[in-house]
Amino acid sequence: MSHIQILVGSVTGTAERIADLAAERLQTLGHQVTVNRFAQLDDLLRSPEEVLLICTSNTGSGDLPDNLQPLYVQLTREFPPIAGRLYGLINLGDSSYTTFGEAGQAMDDAFADLGAQRIGEPLVLDASSGDDPEPLTEDWVANWATQLPEDAA
Ligand SMILES: Cc1cc2nc3c(=O)[nH]c(=O)nc-3n(C[C@H](O)[C@H](O)[C@H](O)COP(=O)(O)O)c2cc1C
Repeated sequence: MSHIQILVGSVTGTAERIADLAAERLQTLGHQVTVNRFAQLDDLLRSPEEVLLICTSNTGSGDLPDNLQPLYVQLTREFPPIAGRLYGLINLGDSSYTTFGEAGQAMDDAFADLGAQRIGEPLVLDASSGDDPEPLTEDWVANWATQLPEDAA
C-alpha cells in the first residue's frame, strides 16, 4: 500500500475530475490518497515517502493553471530536496494548441531536474482526440499502480 498525494492544476474542472477519478481508482486498489488542489512546497516536504501524482491541465500558451503555478515557481526557485522522490504525471492538453502539453512537460522537467524519479510514462489526454478521458485514465492508473513500490509509506 502506498500513500499518494495528487497535485491538481485545473482551470475549468476537467483535470479535477480526472484527479478525483484517479484517486477513487487508487483507493479501490488499497492505496491511501489525498487530492491537493492548492499544492505548496511544504505539502510535498511533509512526508518524503509519499508518492506524488501531478494531474494538470494546460492554459494560456502552455502555462500551468493558477492553482499549480505557485508550486512550479517554488520548485524552480528554491530547489527543494526531492531527489529520488517518486512521482507520476497526468497531462491534460489540446493538440490544437502549438503549445500542446507544455505545462505538464515543464512540471515533469522541474521534478526531473531536482532528481525526482518518474514512475512510468505520463498519461497525456488530448481534448481534441475525441477519446473519452475517463476509461483512458482508469487503464493508465491500473498500470501505473502496478509500478508503485510495495511498501511506500
Ligand atoms: C484558454 C485556454 C488555453 C489553453 N491552452 C492550452 C495550451 O497551451 N496547451 C494545451 O495543450 N492545451 C491548452 N488548453 C486545453 C486545456 O488544457 C484542456 O482543454 C484541458 O482539458 C482543460 O482542463 P481543465 O478544465 O482542468 O483546465 C487550453 C484551453 C483553454 C480554454
